[in-house]
Amino acid sequence: MKYHVFQHLVLSSFLANSAFSQASNGTANNSIVSIPPSDTVLLPATFSSNYSLSFVDTVLPPSSGVHASLAQAENATFISYSKAFLNLVGDSPSVRLIAGPLEAEFAYEAGVYVPDLNSVWFTGSDPKETGLTSFQSPRIVLNINLTSNEVTVPNLTEPVLVANGGTYHNGKVYICHWGNYTYAGGILAIDPKTGKTTTVVNSFFGLRLNGPDDIAWTTGPDNSSDPVMFFTDVDYSAQLNFTGPAQLPNAIWRFDPTYNSLQPVISRAEINSPNGVAVSPDGKKLYVTDSPVSNLQGHGPGNTTGSAAVFVWDLDETITPVNKRLFSIARTGVPDGIKVDAKGRVWTAETEGIVCRDANGRVLGLINAKTLDKTDVPIANFALAGNKIIVLAIDQIWEVTVKEELSWIV
Ligand SMILES: *[C@@H]1O[C@H](CO)[C@@H](O)[C@H](O)[C@H]1NC(C)=O
Ligand SMILES: *[C@@H]1O[C@H](CO)[C@@H](O)[C@H](O)[C@H]1NC(C)=O
Ligand SMILES: *[C@@H]1O[C@H](CO)[C@@H](O)[C@H](O)[C@H]1NC(C)=O
Ligand SMILES: *[C@@H]1O[C@H](CO)[C@@H](O)[C@H](O)[C@H]1NC(C)=O
Ligand SMILES: *[C@@H]1O[C@H](CO)[C@@H](O)[C@H](O)[C@H]1NC(C)=O
Ligand SMILES: *[C@@H]1O[C@H](CO)[C@@H](O)[C@H](O)[C@H]1NC(C)=O
Ligand SMILES: *[C@@H]1O[C@H](CO)[C@@H](O)[C@H](O)[C@H]1NC(C)=O
Ligand SMILES: *[C@@H]1O[C@H](CO)[C@@H](O)[C@H](O)[C@H]1NC(C)=O
Ligand SMILES: *[C@@H]1O[C@H](CO)[C@@H](O)[C@H](O)[C@H]1NC(C)=O
Ligand SMILES: *[C@@H]1O[C@H](CO)[C@@H](O)[C@H](O)[C@H]1NC(C)=O
Repeated sequence: MKYHVFQHLVLSSFLANSAFSQASNGTANNSIVSIPPSDTVLLPATFSSNYSLSFVDTVLPPSSGVHASLAQAENATFISYSKAFLNLVGDSPSVRLIAGPLEAEFAYEAGVYVPDLNSVWFTGSDPKETGLTSFQSPRIVLNINLTSNEVTVPNLTEPVLVANGGTYHNGKVYICHWGNYTYAGGILAIDPKTGKTTTVVNSFFGLRLNGPDDIAWTTGPDNSSDPVMFFTDVDYSAQLNFTGPAQLPNAIWRFDPTYNSLQPVISRAEINSPNGVAVSPDGKKLYVTDSPVSNLQGHGPGNTTGSAAVFVWDLDETITPVNKRLFSIARTGVPDGIKVDAKGRVWTAETEGIVCRDANGRVLGLINAKTLDKTDVPIANFALAGNKIIVLAIDQIWEVTVKEELSWIV
Protein backbone atom coordinates (compact mmCIF):
# COMPACT_ATOMS: atom_id res chain seq x y z
CA MET A 1 0.00 0.00 0.00
CA LYS A 2 1.30 3.44 -0.87
CA TYR A 3 0.74 6.37 1.36
CA HIS A 4 0.83 10.12 1.30
CA VAL A 5 3.08 10.89 4.20
CA PHE A 6 2.91 14.15 6.05
CA GLN A 7 5.92 14.69 8.24
CA HIS A 8 4.87 14.51 11.81
CA LEU A 9 5.46 17.94 13.17
CA VAL A 10 5.58 21.22 11.38
CA LEU A 11 7.57 22.46 14.30
CA SER A 12 8.78 25.71 12.82
CA SER A 13 5.28 26.76 11.92
CA PHE A 14 4.12 25.67 15.34
CA LEU A 15 6.63 27.97 16.99
CA ALA A 16 6.03 30.79 14.55
CA ASN A 17 2.28 30.72 15.03
CA SER A 18 2.47 29.93 18.66
CA ALA A 19 -0.52 31.15 20.56
CA PHE A 20 0.42 28.75 23.33
CA SER A 21 1.70 30.84 26.16
CA GLN A 22 2.76 27.86 28.17
CA ALA A 23 3.77 25.48 25.42
CA SER A 24 7.44 25.57 24.56
CA ASN A 25 8.48 22.96 22.06
CA GLY A 26 5.40 20.93 21.47
CA THR A 27 4.46 20.25 25.06
CA ALA A 28 1.54 21.83 26.87
CA ASN A 29 1.24 22.81 30.49
CA ASN A 30 0.77 19.41 32.12
CA SER A 31 -0.36 20.81 35.45
CA ILE A 32 -3.32 19.38 37.31
CA VAL A 33 -5.64 21.76 39.13
CA SER A 34 -8.12 20.34 41.62
CA ILE A 35 -11.44 22.09 42.07
CA PRO A 36 -13.38 21.16 45.20
CA PRO A 37 -16.61 19.39 44.16
CA SER A 38 -18.51 21.79 46.43
CA ASP A 39 -17.58 24.62 44.00
CA THR A 40 -19.46 22.77 41.27
CA VAL A 41 -22.76 23.03 43.14
CA LEU A 42 -22.58 26.15 45.32
CA LEU A 43 -21.26 29.59 44.40
CA PRO A 44 -21.88 33.17 45.52
CA ALA A 45 -25.31 33.86 44.07
CA THR A 46 -24.13 36.67 41.82
CA PHE A 47 -21.98 34.30 39.76
CA SER A 48 -22.43 34.59 36.01
CA SER A 49 -21.77 32.24 33.12
CA ASN A 50 -23.58 30.49 30.26
CA TYR A 51 -23.64 27.28 28.23
CA SER A 52 -21.14 28.46 25.64
CA LEU A 53 -18.38 29.11 28.20
CA SER A 54 -16.37 26.66 30.31
CA PHE A 55 -17.06 26.21 34.00
CA VAL A 56 -13.65 27.76 34.75
CA ASP A 57 -14.77 30.97 32.98
CA THR A 58 -17.46 31.54 35.59
CA VAL A 59 -17.33 35.14 36.77
CA LEU A 60 -17.45 35.43 40.55
CA PRO A 61 -17.57 38.44 42.84
CA PRO A 62 -13.99 39.77 43.33
CA SER A 63 -13.82 38.91 47.00
CA SER A 64 -14.58 35.20 46.63
CA GLY A 65 -10.93 34.12 46.95
CA VAL A 66 -11.92 30.70 48.18
CA HIS A 67 -12.85 29.83 44.62
CA ALA A 68 -9.40 30.74 43.26
CA SER A 69 -8.92 27.23 41.84
CA LEU A 70 -11.51 27.99 39.18
CA ALA A 71 -9.44 30.79 37.67
CA GLN A 72 -6.18 28.89 38.18
CA ALA A 73 -7.53 25.97 36.20
CA GLU A 74 -7.78 28.09 33.06
CA ASN A 75 -4.39 27.01 31.66
CA ALA A 76 -4.12 23.58 33.25
CA THR A 77 -4.48 20.56 30.98
CA PHE A 78 -6.06 18.48 33.75
CA ILE A 79 -8.94 19.69 35.87
CA SER A 80 -9.75 17.28 38.66
CA TYR A 81 -12.87 17.00 40.81
CA SER A 82 -11.90 13.73 42.49
CA LYS A 83 -9.19 11.54 43.96
CA ALA A 84 -10.10 8.94 41.34
CA PHE A 85 -9.10 11.34 38.54
CA LEU A 86 -5.82 12.26 40.26
CA ASN A 87 -5.06 8.55 40.62
CA LEU A 88 -5.73 7.72 37.01
CA VAL A 89 -3.73 10.70 35.73
CA GLY A 90 -0.81 10.10 38.12
CA ASP A 91 1.78 12.60 39.32
CA SER A 92 3.64 13.15 36.08
CA PRO A 93 1.36 13.03 33.06
CA SER A 94 2.86 14.17 29.78
CA VAL A 95 1.13 16.26 27.16
CA ARG A 96 2.88 16.21 23.80
CA LEU A 97 1.96 17.69 20.45
CA ILE A 98 2.42 14.84 17.94
CA ALA A 99 0.99 16.33 14.73
CA GLY A 100 0.28 19.78 13.37
CA PRO A 101 -0.84 22.39 13.61
CA LEU A 102 -1.71 22.24 9.92
CA GLU A 103 -3.85 24.62 7.90
CA ALA A 104 -6.55 21.94 7.71
CA GLU A 105 -9.23 20.43 9.96
CA PHE A 106 -7.53 17.08 9.51
CA ALA A 107 -7.93 15.66 13.05
CA TYR A 108 -11.64 15.57 13.61
CA GLU A 109 -13.54 12.32 14.17
CA ALA A 110 -13.30 8.60 15.05
CA GLY A 111 -10.11 7.98 17.04
CA VAL A 112 -9.58 4.24 16.60
CA TYR A 113 -6.61 2.62 18.30
CA VAL A 114 -5.05 -0.31 16.44
CA PRO A 115 -2.91 -2.05 19.07
CA ASP A 116 -0.98 -4.29 16.62
CA LEU A 117 0.26 -1.32 14.62
CA ASN A 118 0.42 1.16 17.51
CA SER A 119 -1.52 3.58 15.32
CA VAL A 120 -4.66 5.66 15.66
CA TRP A 121 -7.07 5.92 12.74
CA PHE A 122 -9.18 9.01 12.46
CA THR A 123 -11.20 11.06 9.98
CA GLY A 124 -10.87 14.66 8.90
CA SER A 125 -10.08 16.94 5.99
CA ASP A 126 -7.36 16.06 3.55
CA PRO A 127 -4.28 17.83 4.94
CA LYS A 128 -3.44 18.97 1.39
CA GLU A 129 -6.67 20.95 1.14
CA THR A 130 -5.90 23.92 3.29
CA GLY A 131 -8.22 26.59 4.61
CA LEU A 132 -11.41 24.55 4.32
CA THR A 133 -13.68 23.15 7.00
CA SER A 134 -13.97 19.39 7.38
CA PHE A 135 -17.27 19.58 5.52
CA GLN A 136 -15.98 21.75 2.66
CA SER A 137 -13.13 19.28 2.21
CA PRO A 138 -15.22 16.24 3.12
CA ARG A 139 -13.70 13.99 5.67
CA ILE A 140 -11.37 11.21 4.60
CA VAL A 141 -9.65 8.45 6.59
CA LEU A 142 -6.16 9.08 7.99
CA ASN A 143 -3.92 7.50 10.58
CA ILE A 144 -1.04 8.43 12.82
CA ASN A 145 1.76 6.05 13.73
CA LEU A 146 2.25 6.58 17.48
CA THR A 147 5.84 5.36 17.23
CA SER A 148 7.00 7.76 14.52
CA ASN A 149 4.18 10.34 14.76
CA GLU A 150 3.80 10.15 10.99
CA VAL A 151 0.36 11.10 9.67
CA THR A 152 -0.65 9.10 6.61
CA VAL A 153 -3.57 9.08 4.19
CA PRO A 154 -4.01 5.40 3.32
CA ASN A 155 -5.03 4.22 -0.14
CA LEU A 156 -8.35 2.50 0.47
CA THR A 157 -9.98 0.18 -2.05
CA GLU A 158 -13.55 1.56 -1.80
CA PRO A 159 -14.89 5.14 -1.91
CA VAL A 160 -15.15 6.84 1.48
CA LEU A 161 -17.56 9.78 1.28
CA VAL A 162 -17.71 11.99 4.39
CA ALA A 163 -16.12 9.65 6.90
CA ASN A 164 -17.17 10.00 10.53
CA GLY A 165 -16.84 7.79 13.63
CA GLY A 166 -15.39 4.33 13.93
CA THR A 167 -14.01 1.55 16.07
CA TYR A 168 -11.63 -1.41 16.08
CA HIS A 169 -12.78 -5.01 16.10
CA ASN A 170 -11.07 -8.29 15.30
CA GLY A 171 -8.23 -6.84 13.25
CA LYS A 172 -10.34 -4.36 11.28
CA VAL A 173 -10.94 -0.63 11.52
CA TYR A 174 -14.68 0.03 11.10
CA ILE A 175 -15.55 3.50 9.79
CA CYS A 176 -18.92 5.15 9.13
CA HIS A 177 -19.43 7.24 6.02
CA TRP A 178 -22.36 9.23 4.74
CA GLY A 179 -22.23 8.69 1.00
CA ASN A 180 -23.50 11.18 -1.56
CA TYR A 181 -26.66 11.61 -3.64
CA THR A 182 -25.94 8.54 -5.79
CA TYR A 183 -23.70 6.38 -3.60
CA ALA A 184 -25.04 4.92 -0.36
CA GLY A 185 -23.17 5.55 2.84
CA GLY A 186 -22.75 2.80 5.39
CA ILE A 187 -20.22 0.97 7.51
CA LEU A 188 -16.83 0.12 6.05
CA ALA A 189 -14.34 -2.45 7.34
CA ILE A 190 -10.73 -1.55 6.58
CA ASP A 191 -7.78 -3.87 6.93
CA PRO A 192 -5.32 -1.44 8.51
CA LYS A 193 -2.33 -3.39 7.20
CA THR A 194 -3.34 -3.33 3.52
CA GLY A 195 -6.04 -0.69 3.10
CA LYS A 196 -8.40 -3.33 1.68
CA THR A 197 -11.87 -1.96 2.32
CA THR A 198 -15.21 -3.74 2.24
CA THR A 199 -18.70 -2.39 2.85
CA VAL A 200 -20.40 -4.24 5.71
CA VAL A 201 -23.84 -2.57 5.82
CA ASN A 202 -25.41 0.07 3.58
CA SER A 203 -29.12 -0.75 3.24
CA PHE A 204 -32.23 -1.61 5.21
CA PHE A 205 -34.31 -3.60 2.72
CA GLY A 206 -33.36 -1.15 -0.04
CA LEU A 207 -33.67 2.03 1.98
CA ARG A 208 -30.55 4.06 2.51
CA LEU A 209 -29.28 4.79 5.97
CA ASN A 210 -29.40 8.50 6.80
CA GLY A 211 -25.77 8.92 7.77
CA PRO A 212 -24.10 6.36 10.04
CA ASP A 213 -22.15 8.27 12.63
CA ASP A 214 -20.40 5.96 15.10
CA ILE A 215 -20.00 2.25 15.88
CA ALA A 216 -19.48 -0.05 18.87
CA TRP A 217 -19.02 -3.83 18.85
CA THR A 218 -19.93 -6.03 21.79
CA THR A 219 -20.13 -9.69 22.72
CA GLY A 220 -22.95 -8.92 25.14
CA PRO A 221 -23.21 -9.18 28.93
CA ASP A 222 -20.25 -11.17 30.24
CA ASN A 223 -19.20 -12.12 26.71
CA SER A 224 -22.34 -14.20 26.23
CA SER A 225 -22.90 -13.76 22.50
CA ASP A 226 -21.28 -13.69 19.11
CA PRO A 227 -20.12 -10.16 18.29
CA VAL A 228 -22.82 -7.67 17.26
CA MET A 229 -22.38 -4.10 16.11
CA PHE A 230 -24.37 -1.09 17.28
CA PHE A 231 -24.29 2.07 15.21
CA THR A 232 -25.98 5.44 15.33
CA ASP A 233 -27.76 6.79 12.24
CA VAL A 234 -28.56 10.48 12.06
CA ASP A 235 -29.76 12.87 9.39
CA TYR A 236 -26.97 15.50 9.59
CA SER A 237 -25.98 14.37 6.12
CA ALA A 238 -29.30 15.39 4.57
CA GLN A 239 -29.31 18.64 6.55
CA LEU A 240 -25.87 19.46 5.18
CA ASN A 241 -27.04 18.43 1.69
CA PHE A 242 -24.47 15.70 1.15
CA THR A 243 -27.35 13.31 0.50
CA GLY A 244 -31.06 13.49 -0.32
CA PRO A 245 -33.81 13.63 2.31
CA ALA A 246 -33.71 11.05 5.11
CA GLN A 247 -35.46 7.79 4.25
CA LEU A 248 -35.55 6.47 7.79
CA PRO A 249 -36.13 7.92 11.22
CA ASN A 250 -32.93 8.56 13.14
CA ALA A 251 -32.19 5.45 15.18
CA ILE A 252 -29.65 3.21 16.80
CA TRP A 253 -29.27 -0.01 14.87
CA ARG A 254 -27.83 -3.39 15.76
CA PHE A 255 -26.16 -5.40 13.04
CA ASP A 256 -25.83 -9.10 13.79
CA PRO A 257 -23.37 -10.69 11.30
CA THR A 258 -24.35 -14.24 12.31
CA TYR A 259 -27.85 -13.73 10.84
CA ASN A 260 -27.11 -10.83 8.47
CA SER A 261 -29.80 -9.04 10.41
CA LEU A 262 -30.08 -5.28 10.77
CA GLN A 263 -32.54 -4.25 13.48
CA PRO A 264 -33.49 -0.87 14.92
CA VAL A 265 -33.08 -1.02 18.69
CA ILE A 266 -33.55 2.59 19.85
CA SER A 267 -36.05 4.97 18.26
CA ARG A 268 -35.86 8.66 17.58
CA ALA A 269 -38.56 9.15 20.17
CA GLU A 270 -35.92 8.08 22.69
CA ILE A 271 -33.00 10.06 21.31
CA ASN A 272 -33.12 13.09 19.04
CA SER A 273 -29.77 13.07 17.24
CA PRO A 274 -27.83 9.91 18.12
CA ASN A 275 -24.14 10.62 17.67
CA GLY A 276 -21.40 8.76 19.56
CA VAL A 277 -21.94 5.20 20.80
CA ALA A 278 -19.94 2.98 23.17
CA VAL A 279 -20.41 -0.24 25.16
CA SER A 280 -18.88 -0.97 28.57
CA PRO A 281 -16.14 -3.62 28.80
CA ASP A 282 -18.49 -6.00 30.64
CA GLY A 283 -20.97 -5.74 27.76
CA LYS A 284 -23.74 -4.65 30.11
CA LYS A 285 -24.22 -0.98 29.23
CA LEU A 286 -24.74 0.95 26.02
CA TYR A 287 -24.00 4.69 26.02
CA VAL A 288 -25.16 7.09 23.31
CA THR A 289 -24.52 10.81 22.97
CA ASP A 290 -27.34 13.05 21.78
CA SER A 291 -26.23 16.12 19.83
CA PRO A 292 -29.31 18.11 18.80
CA VAL A 293 -28.74 20.37 15.81
CA SER A 294 -30.06 23.38 17.68
CA ASN A 295 -27.34 22.93 20.28
CA LEU A 296 -24.73 22.31 17.57
CA GLN A 297 -25.74 25.63 16.05
CA GLY A 298 -25.30 27.38 19.38
CA HIS A 299 -29.00 28.04 19.97
CA GLY A 300 -28.90 26.40 23.36
CA PRO A 301 -31.13 23.98 25.17
CA GLY A 302 -34.39 25.95 24.91
CA ASN A 303 -34.75 25.36 21.20
CA THR A 304 -35.09 21.60 20.87
CA THR A 305 -36.87 18.65 22.38
CA GLY A 306 -33.56 16.76 22.49
CA SER A 307 -30.92 17.19 25.15
CA ALA A 308 -27.18 17.70 24.75
CA ALA A 309 -26.78 14.59 26.84
CA VAL A 310 -25.48 11.09 27.24
CA PHE A 311 -28.08 8.37 27.72
CA VAL A 312 -27.36 4.88 29.01
CA TRP A 313 -29.24 1.60 28.52
CA ASP A 314 -28.69 -1.81 30.04
CA LEU A 315 -28.05 -4.58 27.53
CA ASP A 316 -30.24 -7.58 28.32
CA GLU A 317 -29.49 -11.22 27.53
CA THR A 318 -30.71 -10.72 23.94
CA ILE A 319 -28.27 -7.76 23.59
CA THR A 320 -31.24 -5.42 23.41
CA PRO A 321 -30.97 -1.98 25.05
CA VAL A 322 -33.50 -1.66 27.88
CA ASN A 323 -34.03 0.62 30.86
CA LYS A 324 -33.02 3.99 29.40
CA ARG A 325 -31.64 6.56 31.82
CA LEU A 326 -30.24 10.04 31.45
CA PHE A 327 -26.52 9.63 32.25
CA SER A 328 -25.18 13.17 31.90
CA ILE A 329 -25.79 16.58 30.38
CA ALA A 330 -22.95 18.51 28.76
CA ARG A 331 -22.21 21.67 30.70
CA THR A 332 -20.93 23.29 27.51
CA GLY A 333 -21.84 22.59 23.89
CA VAL A 334 -22.78 19.00 23.06
CA PRO A 335 -21.32 15.62 23.88
CA ASP A 336 -19.92 14.01 20.73
CA GLY A 337 -17.31 11.21 20.72
CA ILE A 338 -17.61 8.75 23.60
CA LYS A 339 -15.37 5.92 24.85
CA VAL A 340 -15.65 3.68 27.89
CA ASP A 341 -12.26 2.82 29.41
CA ALA A 342 -11.05 -0.52 30.76
CA LYS A 343 -12.46 0.28 34.21
CA GLY A 344 -15.88 1.33 32.95
CA ARG A 345 -15.30 5.09 33.22
CA VAL A 346 -17.00 7.10 30.49
CA TRP A 347 -15.06 9.73 28.50
CA THR A 348 -16.86 12.17 26.23
CA ALA A 349 -15.65 14.98 23.99
CA GLU A 350 -17.67 18.00 25.09
CA THR A 351 -16.86 21.58 24.21
CA GLU A 352 -15.24 22.17 27.58
CA GLY A 353 -12.85 19.30 27.01
CA ILE A 354 -12.73 15.54 27.31
CA VAL A 355 -14.83 14.84 30.35
CA CYS A 356 -14.31 11.69 32.43
CA ARG A 357 -17.21 10.34 34.51
CA ASP A 358 -17.54 7.25 36.63
CA ALA A 359 -20.12 4.60 35.69
CA ASN A 360 -22.67 6.40 37.88
CA GLY A 361 -22.31 9.62 35.91
CA ARG A 362 -20.32 11.56 38.50
CA VAL A 363 -17.81 13.92 36.87
CA LEU A 364 -14.30 12.85 37.94
CA GLY A 365 -12.30 15.36 35.94
CA LEU A 366 -11.53 16.57 32.46
CA ILE A 367 -8.83 17.32 29.94
CA ASN A 368 -9.17 21.01 29.33
CA ALA A 369 -9.92 22.01 25.73
CA LYS A 370 -8.61 25.51 26.41
CA THR A 371 -5.03 24.25 26.51
CA LEU A 372 -5.27 21.83 23.59
CA ASP A 373 -7.71 23.28 21.04
CA LYS A 374 -6.67 26.58 19.52
CA THR A 375 -9.39 26.58 16.85
CA ASP A 376 -12.98 27.72 17.32
CA VAL A 377 -14.22 24.23 16.40
CA PRO A 378 -14.92 22.07 19.46
CA ILE A 379 -12.94 18.85 19.86
CA ALA A 380 -15.29 16.10 18.65
CA ASN A 381 -13.34 12.93 19.31
CA PHE A 382 -10.26 11.21 20.68
CA ALA A 383 -8.79 7.73 21.11
CA LEU A 384 -7.90 5.72 24.19
CA ALA A 385 -4.61 4.00 23.33
CA GLY A 386 -3.04 2.03 26.16
CA ASN A 387 -2.37 4.63 28.83
CA LYS A 388 -2.65 7.47 26.33
CA ILE A 389 -5.48 9.73 25.30
CA ILE A 390 -4.92 10.82 21.70
CA VAL A 391 -6.75 14.12 21.34
CA LEU A 392 -7.98 15.02 17.85
CA ALA A 393 -7.75 18.78 18.30
CA ILE A 394 -8.95 19.72 14.79
CA ASP A 395 -5.74 21.23 13.34
CA GLN A 396 -3.36 19.23 15.55
CA ILE A 397 -3.07 16.02 17.57
CA TRP A 398 -1.97 15.73 21.19
CA GLU A 399 -0.74 12.66 23.04
CA VAL A 400 -1.72 12.79 26.70
CA THR A 401 -0.01 10.05 28.73
CA VAL A 402 -1.50 9.13 32.09
CA LYS A 403 -0.76 6.49 34.71
CA GLU A 404 -3.56 4.00 34.17
CA GLU A 405 -4.24 1.76 31.19
CA LEU A 406 -7.44 2.94 29.55
CA SER A 407 -7.98 0.99 26.35
CA TRP A 408 -9.36 -2.52 25.86
CA ILE A 409 -10.69 -4.35 22.82
CA VAL A 410 -13.75 -6.45 22.02
C1 LIG B 1 -2.77 5.11 -4.42
O1 LIG B 1 -2.50 4.14 -5.39
C2 LIG B 1 -2.40 4.66 -6.71
C3 LIG B 1 -2.28 3.51 -7.68
O2 LIG B 1 -1.25 2.65 -7.27
C4 LIG B 1 -1.21 5.61 -6.77
O3 LIG B 1 -1.13 6.18 -8.03
C5 LIG B 1 -1.42 6.69 -5.71
O4 LIG B 1 -0.28 7.52 -5.66
C6 LIG B 1 -1.65 6.11 -4.37
N1 LIG B 1 -2.04 7.18 -3.47
C7 LIG B 1 -1.43 7.40 -2.35
C8 LIG B 1 -2.06 8.43 -1.51
O5 LIG B 1 -0.44 6.80 -2.00
C1 LIG C 1 0.65 25.87 34.21
O1 LIG C 1 -0.66 26.06 34.69
C2 LIG C 1 -0.70 26.25 36.10
C3 LIG C 1 -2.16 26.26 36.50
O2 LIG C 1 -2.86 27.24 35.79
C4 LIG C 1 0.01 27.53 36.44
O3 LIG C 1 0.00 27.71 37.85
C5 LIG C 1 1.45 27.44 35.96
O4 LIG C 1 2.10 28.67 36.17
C6 LIG C 1 1.48 27.10 34.49
N1 LIG C 1 2.86 26.85 34.11
C7 LIG C 1 3.44 27.51 33.12
C8 LIG C 1 4.86 27.14 32.83
O5 LIG C 1 2.84 28.35 32.47
C1 LIG D 1 11.14 21.04 25.60
O1 LIG D 1 10.13 20.76 26.55
C2 LIG D 1 10.56 19.88 27.56
C3 LIG D 1 9.36 19.58 28.44
O2 LIG D 1 8.78 20.76 28.90
C4 LIG D 1 11.69 20.54 28.35
O3 LIG D 1 12.15 19.62 29.31
C5 LIG D 1 12.84 20.87 27.39
O4 LIG D 1 13.83 21.58 28.08
C6 LIG D 1 12.33 21.73 26.25
N1 LIG D 1 13.38 21.95 25.27
C7 LIG D 1 13.62 23.12 24.72
C8 LIG D 1 14.72 23.16 23.69
O5 LIG D 1 12.98 24.12 25.00
C1 LIG E 1 -21.89 33.79 27.09
O1 LIG E 1 -21.16 34.80 27.75
C2 LIG E 1 -20.11 35.35 26.96
C3 LIG E 1 -19.31 36.28 27.85
O2 LIG E 1 -20.15 37.16 28.48
C4 LIG E 1 -20.72 36.04 25.77
O3 LIG E 1 -19.68 36.55 24.94
C5 LIG E 1 -21.53 35.04 24.96
O4 LIG E 1 -22.19 35.68 23.92
C6 LIG E 1 -22.55 34.37 25.85
N1 LIG E 1 -23.15 33.30 25.07
C7 LIG E 1 -24.45 33.02 25.15
C8 LIG E 1 -24.91 31.91 24.29
O5 LIG E 1 -25.20 33.65 25.87
C1 LIG F 1 -3.48 31.74 31.29
O1 LIG F 1 -2.78 32.13 30.12
C2 LIG F 1 -3.15 33.41 29.66
C3 LIG F 1 -2.45 33.63 28.34
O2 LIG F 1 -1.07 33.56 28.53
C4 LIG F 1 -2.76 34.45 30.71
O3 LIG F 1 -3.17 35.72 30.28
C5 LIG F 1 -3.46 34.10 32.01
O4 LIG F 1 -3.03 34.97 33.04
C6 LIG F 1 -3.15 32.68 32.42
N1 LIG F 1 -3.97 32.35 33.59
C7 LIG F 1 -3.46 31.81 34.68
C8 LIG F 1 -4.40 31.54 35.78
O5 LIG F 1 -2.26 31.53 34.78
C1 LIG G 1 5.61 3.17 12.67
O1 LIG G 1 6.84 3.80 12.84
C2 LIG G 1 7.88 2.93 13.25
C3 LIG G 1 9.10 3.80 13.52
O2 LIG G 1 9.43 4.53 12.40
C4 LIG G 1 8.08 1.88 12.19
O3 LIG G 1 9.10 0.99 12.61
C5 LIG G 1 6.80 1.13 11.95
O4 LIG G 1 6.96 0.22 10.88
C6 LIG G 1 5.69 2.09 11.61
N1 LIG G 1 4.43 1.37 11.57
C7 LIG G 1 3.68 1.30 10.48
C8 LIG G 1 2.42 0.53 10.60
O5 LIG G 1 4.00 1.84 9.44
C1 LIG H 1 -20.78 9.87 -5.52
O1 LIG H 1 -19.60 9.16 -5.23
C2 LIG H 1 -19.31 8.20 -6.21
C3 LIG H 1 -18.16 7.33 -5.70
O2 LIG H 1 -17.04 8.12 -5.42
C4 LIG H 1 -18.98 8.92 -7.50
O3 LIG H 1 -18.67 7.99 -8.50
C5 LIG H 1 -20.16 9.77 -7.90
O4 LIG H 1 -19.82 10.56 -9.01
C6 LIG H 1 -20.61 10.67 -6.77
N1 LIG H 1 -21.89 11.25 -7.13
C7 LIG H 1 -22.14 12.53 -6.96
C8 LIG H 1 -23.52 12.97 -7.33
O5 LIG H 1 -21.30 13.31 -6.53
C1 LIG I 1 -15.30 -14.05 24.69
O1 LIG I 1 -15.69 -15.30 24.14
C2 LIG I 1 -14.97 -15.68 22.98
C3 LIG I 1 -15.62 -16.89 22.38
O2 LIG I 1 -15.99 -17.77 23.38
C4 LIG I 1 -13.50 -15.85 23.34
O3 LIG I 1 -12.75 -16.16 22.19
C5 LIG I 1 -12.98 -14.53 23.93
O4 LIG I 1 -11.66 -14.68 24.36
C6 LIG I 1 -13.84 -14.09 25.08
N1 LIG I 1 -13.44 -12.73 25.45
C7 LIG I 1 -13.31 -12.34 26.70
C8 LIG I 1 -12.91 -10.93 26.91
O5 LIG I 1 -13.51 -13.09 27.63
C1 LIG J 1 -27.95 20.27 -2.67
O1 LIG J 1 -27.06 19.50 -3.45
C2 LIG J 1 -27.58 19.27 -4.76
C3 LIG J 1 -26.70 18.24 -5.44
O2 LIG J 1 -25.35 18.54 -5.26
C4 LIG J 1 -27.65 20.60 -5.51
O3 LIG J 1 -28.16 20.39 -6.78
C5 LIG J 1 -28.57 21.52 -4.73
O4 LIG J 1 -28.55 22.79 -5.31
C6 LIG J 1 -28.13 21.65 -3.28
N1 LIG J 1 -29.16 22.34 -2.54
C7 LIG J 1 -28.89 23.36 -1.75
C8 LIG J 1 -30.05 23.95 -1.03
O5 LIG J 1 -27.75 23.79 -1.62
C1 LIG K 1 -33.93 28.89 17.94
O1 LIG K 1 -33.21 28.56 16.75
C2 LIG K 1 -33.48 29.42 15.67
C3 LIG K 1 -32.71 28.92 14.47
O2 LIG K 1 -32.92 27.56 14.29
C4 LIG K 1 -33.07 30.83 16.03
O3 LIG K 1 -33.40 31.69 14.96
C5 LIG K 1 -33.79 31.26 17.29
O4 LIG K 1 -33.29 32.51 17.69
C6 LIG K 1 -33.54 30.28 18.41
N1 LIG K 1 -34.33 30.63 19.58
C7 LIG K 1 -33.81 30.68 20.80
C8 LIG K 1 -34.76 30.99 21.90
O5 LIG K 1 -32.63 30.51 21.04
